[in-house]
Amino acid sequence: MNKILVTGGAGYLGSVLCKKLLDEGHAVKCFDRLYFGVEPVKPLLKNKRFELIPGNILNIGDFSDIFKGVDAVIHLAGIANDPTAELDPQLTHKINYESSVRIARQARKYGIKRFIFASSCSVYGKGLSDIVNEDSPLNPVSVYAESKMNAEREIVALKGDGFHPISLRQATLYGVSPRMRVDLAINLMVLHALLKRKIFIWGGGEQWRPFLHVADAADAFIYCLGLPLSDVSGRIYNLGSTKDNLKIIDLANIVKDTVKGTKLDIIPENPDKRSYRVSCDKIVKELKWKPKKRIEDGIEELMEFFASCKTDALNDPLFYNIKTVQGFVQKPAALGGDPIRADFLPFSLPLLGKEEEGEVIDTLRSGWLTRGPKTARLEEMFKEYIGCKYSICVSSCTAALHLCLAALGIKKGDEVITSPITWPATANVIVHTGATPVFADVDRETLNIDPSSIEKKITSKTKAIIPVHMAGQPCEIDKIRKIAKKHKLYIIEDAAHAIGASYKGKKIGTLSDFACFSFYPIKNMTTIEGGLVVTNNPEWAEKIRVYSLHGVSNDAWKRYDSSFKGTIEVVYPGFKYNMTDVQASLGLHQLPKLDSFIRERKLIVQQYNDAFRELKEISVPKQLREIGNAYHLYIIILDIDRMKITRDEFMDALKKENIGVGLHFRSLHVQQYYKDTFKFKSSSLPNAMYLSERILSLPMYPKMTQYDVDTVIKAVKKLIAYYKK
Ligand SMILES: Cc1ncc(COP(=O)(O)O)c(C=O)c1O
Repeated sequence: MNKILVTGGAGYLGSVLCKKLLDEGHAVKCFDRLYFGVEPVKPLLKNKRFELIPGNILNIGDFSDIFKGVDAVIHLAGIANDPTAELDPQLTHKINYESSVRIARQARKYGIKRFIFASSCSVYGKGLSDIVNEDSPLNPVSVYAESKMNAEREIVALKGDGFHPISLRQATLYGVSPRMRVDLAINLMVLHALLKRKIFIWGGGEQWRPFLHVADAADAFIYCLGLPLSDVSGRIYNLGSTKDNLKIIDLANIVKDTVKGTKLDIIPENPDKRSYRVSCDKIVKELKWKPKKRIEDGIEELMEFFASCKTDALNDPLFYNIKTVQGFVQKPAALGGDPIRADFLPFSLPLLGKEEEGEVIDTLRSGWLTRGPKTARLEEMFKEYIGCKYSICVSSCTAALHLCLAALGIKKGDEVITSPITWPATANVIVHTGATPVFADVDRETLNIDPSSIEKKITSKTKAIIPVHMAGQPCEIDKIRKIAKKHKLYIIEDAAHAIGASYKGKKIGTLSDFACFSFYPIKNMTTIEGGLVVTNNPEWAEKIRVYSLHGVSNDAWKRYDSSFKGTIEVVYPGFKYNMTDVQASLGLHQLPKLDSFIRERKLIVQQYNDAFRELKEISVPKQLREIGNAYHLYIIILDIDRMKITRDEFMDALKKENIGVGLHFRSLHVQQYYKDTFKFKSSSLPNAMYLSERILSLPMYPKMTQYDVDTVIKAVKKLIAYYKK
C-alpha cells in the first residue's frame, strides 16, 4: 500500500481516481477546495484509508504536514477549462502555474520521489502540424493552456536529487463521474441531444480534438504509480488514444446517430480557437499503456446517466465549472467566497534599501547613537530641500506640533482652531498646553479644513490655526493666511502627510509660521518614528531646539564632547523630544528618494482613478489646481446610500479579501474624550460627520507590485458589484 496525495481529488477526474486508488488498496490524502462540495467524495469518507483535507492550493504553504507520510503526489488541482480560466487570468496564473510549481517544489523538498502532473493537450492550442506529438512545438491559444504549459515546463525541470516528475497531457475527457461535468464536448453533446434534440456546432466543426474516458484517465495515473521511476522521470506523455481524435462535426454525427431525432445546429462563429490532432503513440510504445473505453460506450453510459439524473443537468451550476467557480470568485470572502488574493497585502510598507541599513550600522558602530552629527546633517538637508531658514528634527510630528504651540506660549484660556478630520495628535497637543481645541468643519470635496468655517469659529481667545494637509493635498493656504493676518493669528501647518507637497509652486514648509512633518513608517518617507519642524523665524527656531532637549541651553547634545565648555543651563522647562542619530540615519537616505517615492505613488493613484471612475458608488477627493500633491493616502468616499453595507463592513470585507485598509479619519468631535469634555454635538460639523461614515484608505506605496495594485482594484470592484443596491 502506498499513500497518495491527490490534489483536486474531489473533482471530475479526482473523484474517480480516488475511488480507484482506494479499490486498489492505496491510502489517499485528498486535498481539494471543494468548489463542488464534499458530495463527490462522500462515499469515500467511510474508508479509513481516505483522508479529506479541504483547502485551496493557493494556500498550500499553510498546510505544513500535508506531505507527511506521502509516497507519491498526483497533482490535478487547478482552474479547469478555457472559459473558466479566462474569468480571472491572473488568478489562473497564480493557481495553475505558480501554485502547481510551488507544490512540486515542496514535494521535492519533502523527499517525495514520484510526482504526476495533470497537464493538458490544450498546450498544442492551434496545432502547428497535421498531427502533433510530444516533440511538436506548443502553441497555446488560451490562458488555461498557457498556465498548464508553464507549470509543466518548470515541474519537469525539477527532476533530480531523487525527485521524479512526470507530466500527462490529457485529451479532452468524457464520461460519468461522481462530480459530473457537462461542459465537456461529448458530455454536452449527449445532454443537448437528449434534452433538446439539438447539437450546437460552433465554427463549422472542422476543429480536431482527442478524447479520453475519465475512467481511463484515472487508470493511467494509477498505472504510472507502478512504473519504475527511472522509466518515467522528467518525461511528458500525451494521454489518450491516437484513434480517438475526431473532428467536432464527426463526433456530433456519432452522437446524432445514437440519439434518434437529433439535429445539428451549425453556428459559423467560434470562440474556441483550438484545433489539435494528437498522437498518443509514445505512451503506448514506451509505457505499454492504452485506454480501454470506446467513445460509443461512453455515449451510451452518458445517455443512461442523464436519463436517470435527478437534477436539472442543463441548468445545475454544479455541472459547469464556470458557473460554480464564478460564484466563488464573485462572492465576498467574508461570505465564504474566494479572497481576491491568497496573501495579505499590508496597508502600508516602508521602502528601505541597503543604504539605510549601512548608515544605521555605521551609526551603531560609531558610538554616538542619539541626537548628534547625523541629525544635524539631516536638518541641513531638509533646509535645502524645503527652502526654509530653520529646521529641527524631533521625535515625532506630535512632538513637533506641541513644540510649536509651546514656542508661541499657547496656554490655558487660549483657543486653537483645527480640523476634526485628523489624527488625534493634532488636537491632543492643544489640550496638553491647557488651551481649548476648536474644530472648524471641512470641505466635503477636499477633506481639508474649510476657510469659511475657520472664520466663523474665531473668538477673542483664538490664538492660532492648525490646518491639516489631508492625504498630502495642501489646504487653501492663501485664504487661511488672509484670515490669520486679519485676526492676528499664528498658523502651524500639520503637514504630517505633506512632506514634498507644494502650493502654487512653493514647497509646503515655506508658507506660514511653522510646518510640522511626520516620518512615521507609513508616511511618504520614514525615520521609524520622527518628525520635523520648519520655520523662518530665528527666535522660534531657537526656542523649539532648546525645548526639544529638556529646555537646557543650546547644543546640550554636545555636552559630552571635548569641545563643550562650561555647564548646561536650564532656560525653559523643556521636553525630551529629540530625534536620534539612528533615526536620522534612515532619513539621510530616505530624503533623497522622496520625490521618486511620490512619483511612484502618483502612478498608483492614476491607475486607481482610472479603474474607479466608472463606479458610481465611490468617489475620490477633488484635486485642486495649482497644488503639488504629495499623494500620501488614497482615500475613497463610499456612497453608503448606494450600498447594502456600511463603510466599516466594507473595510472588514476588504480585509477578508486580503487587502489591508486604513481609516483617515473618524472625526475627532464624535470621539469619546472630545465629545465628553467639550460637549461637541455630532451635527455641529456636518461635513466632517458625513465623511466620517464614508471614507476609507486603500494601500498605496512604492513597494507595491503591479499585482498588488491590480488586486486592490479587483477587490474594490468585486465588493461594489456584490454589495451595491
Ligand atoms: C494628520 C496627522 N497629524 C499628526 C500626526 C502625528 O504624527 P507622528 O506619528 O509622527 O507623531 C499624524 C500621524 O499619523 C497625522 O496623520
